[in-house]
Amino acid sequence: MTLAPAPLDLTDPVVVADPYPAFAVARAQAPIQWHEGLGLWLAFTHAESNAVLRDRRLGRIWSDKAPAERFESFNLIHRNAILEMEPPEHTRLRRLISAAFARGHVERLRPWVQDLADSLVDELVERSGGTESVDVLAGMAELLPVAVIAELLGVPEADRPLLRPWSNAIVKMYEYGRTTQVEDDAERAADEFVGYLRELAAQRRRTPGEDLLTHLVTVRDSAGDRLTEDELVTTCILLLNAGHEATVNVSGNGLLALLEHPSELARLRADPGLLPTAIEELMRFDSPLQLFERTATEDVPIGGVTVERGQKIAALLGSANRDPAVFADADTLDVGRTDNPHISFGAGVHFCIGAPLARVELQASFGALLSRTSRLELARPARRRPEFVMRGLYDLPVVLTA
Ligand code: HEM
Repeated sequence: MTLAPAPLDLTDPVVVADPYPAFAVARAQAPIQWHEGLGLWLAFTHAESNAVLRDRRLGRIWSDKAPAERFESFNLIHRNAILEMEPPEHTRLRRLISAAFARGHVERLRPWVQDLADSLVDELVERSGGTESVDVLAGMAELLPVAVIAELLGVPEADRPLLRPWSNAIVKMYEYGRTTQVEDDAERAADEFVGYLRELAAQRRRTPGEDLLTHLVTVRDSAGDRLTEDELVTTCILLLNAGHEATVNVSGNGLLALLEHPSELARLRADPGLLPTAIEELMRFDSPLQLFERTATEDVPIGGVTVERGQKIAALLGSANRDPAVFADADTLDVGRTDNPHISFGAGVHFCIGAPLARVELQASFGALLSRTSRLELARPARRRPEFVMRGLYDLPVVLTA
């Protein structure tokens, strides 16, 4: 095995604050490096990260967290998750979920999402009045994606405040160096979430609606196959979690990047037609999800090393997205970038099911922020969260002028 130095400590606050200089150093050393501390390979380049996500010999292989009785619900909502499966199980579940999505849910929501984004921005503008600092993260970025995914699934409005705390507690399990408290909180949240969704699904069985949950309850493929009860509950939790955690962080990281690059912000204001390329660029420039793991089902030669059967390898999406071999001026934010094959939505069979919905949400949010203000300014430095994998902010204090 080739042992290159792995300079990256993913729990180091300096790396978490800005991992891109460390990624650049690593990319120049070797595309794939063994990380002794994490006990896995890390893929730093675009070619290799992309290959990790696409190579079917590198799979998502779930193994229950032990002890089983301590992680019963956490294990249940991963064992049955599409994200943790490989073909043919993955193909079957993906077909059923895609069929439910294909009922026009995203398009149905587009005007609703725009109205919501407009009203949230108007409220922020009113509170700020061109002088006061207001938190755009709490006042918009965190509210909109949760409201959208809850509306899509048909979670009653009164219950929506429950969702984000459950989701936050569960996704902390995906970080390195977690505490017993984090594990206990995640299991409790998973348990409550499962109980809540079993009840909601039972209601939809009794009284069907027009929402995605009803369609997931009733969906059948051409062979008559359908989601099991555990798959249904798990899929809803995955959609609710995956459906907003990353979107919140693209809004936060993306707006911060624009505020730190005033000339790009001004360019986008002057030409709103750039909004679609700008959204893709914001996702490339500061990826909200930095790392995804795979496990080798056989020996896999890749990027000059061999990932041995049973070993893990992780694609570093943020590093791949700054690879100068693929992106011209990779460290430059360019809202008009057209040649932009970023991998923030993943690649291969697990490519994000929610990408069209995320794009609708982000275009509505950034569109509203630009069209309903004449000025946006950072009031003081934003505080970054300490997690590496889910890259986001605690707050984003901004002064907004109508
Ligand atoms: C900007 C926001 C988003 C980003 C950056 C993002 C990113 C990703 C990535 C990187 C993957 C692949 C993970 C892997 O290969 O291991 C993925 C999968 C997935 N995403 Fe998203 N996502 C976003 C929004 C959403 C939304 C809004 C939904 C739900 C409506 C969603 C649902 C899913 C699901 C269900 C999968 C699993 C697909 C599969 O395993 O076949 N995501 N997402």
